[in-house]
Amino acid sequence: MGISVGSLIFISYSDTLATDYPKSYTPMQTLMQIPVQKTSHSRLSQTDFKNLEFGKYIADHMFTATWNHGTWENSGIEPYAPISVSPAALGLHYGQTVFEGMKAYRMQNGDISIFRLERHSQRFNKSLERMSMAPVPLELFKESLLTLISLDSEWVPREEGSSLYIRPFCFASEERLGMKVSDEYKFMIINSPVGPYYAKPLKVKVEKHFVRAAEGGTGYAKCGGNYGGAFYPAAQAKKEGFDQIIWTHACGHETIEEAGTMNMMFVLDGKLITPPTSSSVLDGITRDSLLTLAGRLGIPQEVRPVTVSEIRDGLENGKLQEAFGAGTAAVVAPISHISIDDTLYEISGSQENAISLNLKKALTDIRTGKAEDFAGWNTILKA
Ligand SMILES: Cc1ncc(COP(=O)(O)O)c(C=O)c1O
Repeated sequence: MGISVGSLIFISYSDTLATDYPKSYTPMQTLMQIPVQKTSHSRLSQTDFKNLEFGKYIADHMFTATWNHGTWENSGIEPYAPISVSPAALGLHYGQTVFEGMKAYRMQNGDISIFRLERHSQRFNKSLERMSMAPVPLELFKESLLTLISLDSEWVPREEGSSLYIRPFCFASEERLGMKVSDEYKFMIINSPVGPYYAKPLKVKVEKHFVRAAEGGTGYAKCGGNYGGAFYPAAQAKKEGFDQIIWTHACGHETIEEAGTMNMMFVLDGKLITPPTSSSVLDGITRDSLLTLAGRLGIPQEVRPVTVSEIRDGLENGKLQEAFGAGTAAVVAPISHISIDDTLYEISGSQENAISLNLKKALTDIRTGKAEDFAGWNTILKA
């Protein structure tokens, strides 16, 4: 595959790699200087690709680079395994951790498409900046990811509705107990073959007590604390029989923010409506893609604050035809029930010809090569 095997070497990416990339790669092209140590015990044969529970299986290899004295060094790919971290690593105590979630798809011709790689890299860096962490240059992000997926290409599922979930992440690894910004970070990538996220439409609760994020906080960043803080309210909602929470604005709880790992979209009176992103709402890449597709399909859309009371009115007078979450993991997750102030409403609209499903199909067709990639969203790894 043209990948070198050997001990770890120093690579200064910004110096050695061009920034102007082609959108399509053969494995030989991607690579280079990233040293690779291949596993001698692939776990592929123990993986049940027909029953992929989200996150259960991890692909054979992982990428690691270390930020030290202002540069990324010691980059390399090795067999997936536990790593050694100091108990005094700053990230474990003060929460300097950031992650991304993206996907690679098996295309109908056997190639692999990676969805909106540059946009995920940009968001990763926005999150890192908010958490005062070292930036990961696009070149490093892209080369490491493409090398890793070339090596683990057999982990990209062929089953319909399945994909390879890609998890780039970064954490503060400096060994020091005092509260300070870390001088050392690990940037890693691991991958997991996944099937559909939700088996059925969701029953959700509009949350008016707990808050996920407030304006000026870290809500727009994919930092670990945002998710850790959401577990307790989500568990309370689960006890009441709900699958997910819809967060509302921290001041007054009058407008819709987003769901746990998805942006919210509604079809109200024939129009696709979604709240704007903000410092408290993640700038979802699926949301952005669906809005672009809706524009092309001629679906009227509005990006504007969405009030809880208009959703309640729409549920009561039947004008709310669809509600769904949009996110990388679930893609499009239809909602069947919404609870507002302890009243449970059912969304009775038919699933056939649902705007959500048409948008999901349009997106899937692009990712799998069945429809033209008109916006240049796919980065292709040739089979
Ligand atoms: C809080 C939150 N909102 C929205 C999303 C959807 O974003 P994307 O479509 O980029 O996955 C995610 C998932 O990344 C998320 O964690």
